[in-house]
Amino acid sequence: MALVDVSRLPQHVAIIMDGNGRWAQARGKPRTAGHQRGADAVRATMRAARRLGIPALTLYAFSEQNWDRPQAEINALVDLLCECLVSERNELVDNEIRLAAIGRLHKLPQHAQSRLRTLTSETESNEGMTLNLALSYGGREELIDAARALARKARDSEIDPNDIDEAAIARLLPSMDVGPVDLMIRTGGEQRISNFLLWGSAYAEFYFTDELWPDFDANSLYCGIQAYQGRERRFGLVLDAHHDVTSTKTRNESERAI
Ligand code: IPE
Ligand code: IPE
Ligand code: MG
Repeated sequence: MALVDVSRLPQHVAIIMDGNGRWAQARGKPRTAGHQRGADAVRATMRAARRLGIPALTLYAFSEQNWDRPQAEINALVDLLCECLVSERNELVDNEIRLAAIGRLHKLPQHAQSRLRTLTSETESNEGMTLNLALSYGGREELIDAARALARKARDSEIDPNDIDEAAIARLLPSMDVGPVDLMIRTGGEQRISNFLLWGSAYAEFYFTDELWPDFDANSLYCGIQAYQGRERRFGLVLDAHHDVTSTKTRNESERAI
């Protein structure tokens, strides 16, 4: 069992939940069986994060690029999302978890959008943890949407282009509502970001594991956090060797103060 120091938890953990298809294929099952088991891993991870006291967990559930997968797989993923939005309701409500969603949600079928809206509004005042689902999400697409919004404001003389700074951009990125990523986990053995939280992961610590997403559990999360806690985050600064890293005012803290 991995040991975690609960006084130094990452404030925002983001996970690229990869490997469902390979998990199923290795068992001679259809890819959708892997997605089904992946939903169990989501529940286990959400519970573990909540129990530890992690304020925000962003899960990459469906990328903008995943729309180009076979239609049958897309349908199965949307159906699974809809089922989970009903079956996990009590779990979220009972554990004070706020559900949020990022991505081009308008591309989801109407019934999925409406279930998502129902549960996000029902849990919006919960303060135990934010579970942020990335659905039809792409980091580049999110930046494109922000660029368009800024260009419109500049055209309408609502802002001076010279006033566009980090904070102005971050305010237009829904993924930044829960702050920058501290720990980015990717399962499934690949070591890439696949268009996930491009802006918010600028100073994230990365943890890659070969474990396939359906096998991920509470202890897997603790392993990721343990690795994170063994890192020295420098944010481009030079840290005084005699200085306690955690008490140094870091770039991350200034980002969070925005
Ligand atoms: C991740 O598992 C889930 C989604 C992308 C929706 P994959 O479906 O990508 O599984 P692999 O990578 O093919 O094994
Ligand atoms: C990333 O996994 C997207 C999600 C986990 C939802 P992919 O399987 O789509 O990424 P690539 O194709 O390996 O880069
Ligand atoms: Mg994959």
